Amino acid sequence: MLEQVDQSERRVLLYAFTTSAVHLFLIAISVAFLQINVPTCQPNEKLITQGFIRSISPKHIEVHYLAKMWFFEPRQLLIPVGTKVDFFLGSVDVVHGFHINHTNINLMAVPGVINKATHIFSKPGIYHIVCHEYCGMGHQNMTAKIEVSESAVGVTSDLKQPIVGEEPISETPITVGEITARKLFEIKGCAACHSIDGTAGVGPSLQGISESKVQLDNGTTVTADEAYLKESITKPQAKLIKGYGPVMPVLPLTDDEIKKLVDYIKTLK
Ligand code: CUA
Repeated sequence: MLEQVDQSERRVLLYAFTTSAVHLFLIAISVAFLQINVPTCQPNEKLITQGFIRSISPKHIEVHYLAKMWFFEPRQLLIPVGTKVDFFLGSVDVVHGFHINHTNINLMAVPGVINKATHIFSKPGIYHIVCHEYCGMGHQNMTAKIEVSESAVGVTSDLKQPIVGEEPISETPITVGEITARKLFEIKGCAACHSIDGTAGVGPSLQGISESKVQLDNGTTVTADEAYLKESITKPQAKLIKGYGPVMPVLPLTDDEIKKLVDYIKTLK
């Protein structure tokens, strides 16, 4: 009886060790020969506030993608066949997805974090990028594309700023003290939904909102004083302005950043 149990346990152990060994072997093959690498988080990189491209060598570039409601920057990229691309991905508002068709690149764009993956584009064609994480009203329009061409001589994109050279990446993370309130307003993604010139967007314009009377969706009217502004940032759904849906996310902000944003909104006359 005892011998029988021992034998079946031995079989189970043998099976477990064999399958583990096969898996480890396949992972080693993937990393060493198939250039499949595990996406990594880049804790010391400066946060991405706009898309940009850096050239490392003629056949190796870094593309820093910005994910934002509801687009990617850059939207279009044209590269020669055989280009190795290091993808860096950041978000300024909510969590977005980032999947490149026909590749193993599948990342999440998470606010406050940069994720990285690498791919060598050895076949020509159009590679569509889609956001595959529901991120709000315009989610289904959140796409970009990479064209890999045999005739392309260099890298081109729809970005306004030119491709930067080989300067090293800054290791200094952004801190509140170093950036202006206006920049903070953009970096945190506020500007994606709130204009500062009176134009209504996904959210109400913030021009002149401070100390004004605002009508809420529950029919009451309140004064948009400092306490209201602060509450609307920390608990966006608490007192919704009439005509706007409960779509604003709670952003990971420090008390300093909240104060800076409230002070900034007060200046928008
Ligand atoms: Cu971004 Cu869905």
